[in-house]
Amino acid sequence: MAFYVTLFLLFLGCILCSCSQFPQRQYRYVHLAMNWTSAQNYCREHHTDLATFESADDLQRLKADFSYEWAWLGLRDDPRSWRETLGSDTNSWRWSATNETSRTGYRPWNQGEPNAGGGLEMCVWMRADGKWNDARCLEKSHFICYSVTNQKEHKYHYIELLKTWFSARDFCRERYTDLAMIENNAEHHQVFSVKPAGITAWIGLYREPWTWSDMSQSSFRNWKRTCPNNYLGNQFCVGENRLHEWNDLPCEEKYSFICHQDPKWTTTVVKVKFQTDADMTDPAVNAQILQQLGALLTSQTQAPLSVRWKTEPRKTTDNLTDRSRPGPIVHL
Ligand SMILES: *[C@@H]1O[C@H](CO)[C@@H](O)[C@H](O)[C@H]1NC(C)=O
Ligand SMILES: *[C@@H]1O[C@H](CO)[C@@H](O)[C@H](O)[C@H]1NC(C)=O
Ligand SMILES: *[C@@H]1O[C@H](CO)[C@@H](O)[C@H](O)[C@H]1NC(C)=O
Repeated sequence: MAFYVTLFLLFLGCILCSCSQFPQRQYRYVHLAMNWTSAQNYCREHHTDLATFESADDLQRLKADFSYEWAWLGLRDDPRSWRETLGSDTNSWRWSATNETSRTGYRPWNQGEPNAGGGLEMCVWMRADGKWNDARCLEKSHFICYSVTNQKEHKYHYIELLKTWFSARDFCRERYTDLAMIENNAEHHQVFSVKPAGITAWIGLYREPWTWSDMSQSSFRNWKRTCPNNYLGNQFCVGENRLHEWNDLPCEEKYSFICHQDPKWTTTVVKVKFQTDADMTDPAVNAQILQQLGALLTSQTQAPLSVRWKTEPRKTTDNLTDRSRPGPIVHL
């Protein structure tokens, strides 16, 4: 018995036998000078987004003659997300006890704070006067833990040890609930009253800086030495130089930029003639053959691949019902 089937092969960015690995995103250097936001718009319109990098290999795949000292990439630490509000963006302030931003928005920052001073201040302490300030997480300070009473109230504990924010958090998690979480004036006054006068102490507020324009979770960074530094206090967008070293720069400055283009699906249609005694109208047989075919093609191409088929109306004298029923769809 002879069967004709049409196979629809959907490939990510490559054609059968012409590629040996997973298709990668393409990087495009754009020789126009724009601020970060306009560059982001341009990339989203003409390509996929401002560039995301996930490894040193990704960096090396960009081949370009830089027309400016810096080229924007998709990384930014959006001050709107953390300066004025306790928002829920990826780089907003959040409480270590919940990993979430404040439910009340209560935030007695000291004037001019938070400021990401030196580009490294991602943890918060309460100053001697009770106001909040962002500080370098690796500085050592006294700290305040909290526990929850049977009445579900917060009880605060001043710890006289000097620890980095992270060690202080671990200490509090081990012995109490977590570093102090403060969401209203009453809690603020309790913390202030357990803290000895004149002392600065860590509380549980922190944030993760830098997020990708395409919302990628990539933690890869390639900072130039001494960067980020938030020099002059207004550097919240990232550019790279021709050595692929990253620098934090003022977002309104105009530089060339790097976009990326996600791989596109391509479809390949193949006609295949089967010589078989198996009953091709049997859905189980059909599915099994298609699965084996998909596995074979995937091992050959090493590409993400989706295989479908459709049986052709027969030209032979075979006489089976249901002749043009399409085969099942297999996603690989
Ligand atoms: C907070 O996030 C950390 C790491 O992402 C995780 O280990 C921890 O369990 C989270 N805590 C809560 C309360 O969700
Ligand atoms: C970026 O440039 C555009 C177009 O020139 C302008 O409208 C926008 O205000 C600029 N944004 C910043 C942050 O400088
Ligand atoms: C083909 O199938 C039809 C309907 O099932 C049947 O009437 C006919 O006799 C069959 N012809 C042959 C050659 O088997």
